[in-house]
Amino acid sequence: MIDRSPWGDFDAYGPLLDVQGMMQPVFRQAFGVPAEGIGELWRRKYHEYTLMRTVIDRYVDYWQVATDALVYAARHHGHELSADDCTAILAHYYHVRSFGDTKHGLTLLSAYKKALVSNGNASMISSMLQVAELNDAFDGLVSSDQAGTFKPHARMYALGLERLKVPVEHAVFVSSNSWDVIGAQEFGLKGIWLRRTAGLWEELGAAPNDVIGGLDKLSPLLATIT
Ligand code: LAC
Repeated sequence: MIDRSPWGDFDAYGPLLDVQGMMQPVFRQAFGVPAEGIGELWRRKYHEYTLMRTVIDRYVDYWQVATDALVYAARHHGHELSADDCTAILAHYYHVRSFGDTKHGLTLLSAYKKALVSNGNASMISSMLQVAELNDAFDGLVSSDQAGTFKPHARMYALGLERLKVPVEHAVFVSSNSWDVIGAQEFGLKGIWLRRTAGLWEELGAAPNDVIGGLDKLSPLLATIT
């Protein structure tokens, strides 16, 4: 942050929306006891598949990736899912709620221009903004279907800069996913890790520029680095 028109890019599902909190009861209802294992494997496969598809340049919609990861995770735990089963389970993804501090934290950032840069597709993002009542919270949106690839591909972060028409050195990127913070830093952005869980920082030879424990801590932090 170095001028009077500070701004930031936000990852969506990790820092703003409580996907695991929302999906765990859904998995529990669908699968019973091994729900935690399925939820965790789903999350890991989901990420692995976006990375793999980025590396081999075989983009498919984020919804398809979510479905493929769910089929794998359920099968690993002995459940074969039909396409209808997947649709019924993942329909809840469209109603995922924000964390308790999301709305307030974004309100505190009203002086800053903000773009949402998400691996979600445009319809998932638009539904999520509506359910979380965040329709007016962002000045720009980037979804993976617009870029034809997923973060941490540089094209995603570049589109975030384009949306807000600011130079890279004036920007910060905020995510609860350390791989995403590192991807943004590799692109040239200042990366802030919003530590939502006890999950560890990934060992990729990089460190975050700053770490915060809640979204409401971002505004005071930015005031010190603008
Ligand atoms: C996103 C996920 C990766 O919104 O948090 O891009």
